[in-house]
Amino acid sequence: MACTTGARSTQRYYSAVILPKFLLVAVVAIIGITMVIAADPDPLQGFCVGDLTSNITVNGLVCKNPAQVTPSDFIYTGLEKPLAFSKFYRNSVNTAFVMAFPGINTQGISMARLDYLPQGLNVPHWHPRASEILFVVNGPLEVGFVDENNFLWANTLQTGDITIFPRGLVHFQYNNGSTNALAIAALSSQNPGRQNSGNSVFGTDIPNIILEKTFNLSPEVVVELKKFFKSQAQGKGINEEATSEDRSKNLNRLFLSLLTEAL
Ligand SMILES: *[C@@H]1O[C@H](CO)[C@@H](O)[C@H](O)[C@H]1NC(C)=O
Ligand SMILES: *[C@@H]1O[C@H](CO)[C@@H](O)[C@H](O)[C@H]1NC(C)=O
Repeated sequence: MACTTGARSTQRYYSAVILPKFLLVAVVAIIGITMVIAADPDPLQGFCVGDLTSNITVNGLVCKNPAQVTPSDFIYTGLEKPLAFSKFYRNSVNTAFVMAFPGINTQGISMARLDYLPQGLNVPHWHPRASEILFVVNGPLEVGFVDENNFLWANTLQTGDITIFPRGLVHFQYNNGSTNALAIAALSSQNPGRQNSGNSVFGTDIPNIILEKTFNLSPEVVVELKKFFKSQAQGKGINEEATSEDRSKNLNRLFLSLLTEAL
């Protein structure tokens, strides 16, 4: 009898403690895996052309009424040409993200066209919501990304090569050649987002003292860096203001004078 009772209580113990614990571990593991592989949500219908006029906020854009969708909703002609080149960085970043091309809404994908004059630079930046695969139409092009251990994975890409910039990691491209370069990027989100290394710290209202301590810089240099990055379009790194070149020269002079003082 005692044995049966023991077995029963053991069974109860398993069902009351072990099983829920096991289930909890399984559920946590499944949630964990889901979070690790999370990208844009899967579509729940064939297409969902974004309605840019709707005021309803959802995770993405509300679908345009399918009866009003036309073939032209699935064309975007904005990538035919580069946008205006940044005078300072000598590059152009032209994106076909969902707000420009609502036809990609819910599809978890987007594109960009990247043009570089000689010495053209797409500054170090990252996309919080997308990995990026880049095809070089006209090379060569210097590229690189930095992993979580701050190791740089750099390459010289030739025409026809492709590379990958993993989601959320800092990456850049630079045209070290003597002719224009062109690359086409595909990104794994309809709305990848972009943060630049410089703008996301010096282009913000982070208190100067925090930046002085973080980067081991003098107050004057932080003021100059803030002026330089705050003069740029927020989060874009494309500087159309001619003054920025002067600011950079000022900054070089400032560094030199500080160096001279130090010596
Ligand atoms: C969206 O909001 C604006 C301003 O609040 C309003 O004028 C407009 O009528 C709204 N549009 C729709 C489709 O509800
Ligand atoms: C650019 O090319 C020059 C000459 O080949 C080379 O010395 C330099 O390291 C290159 N710079 C980059 C960033 O690849």
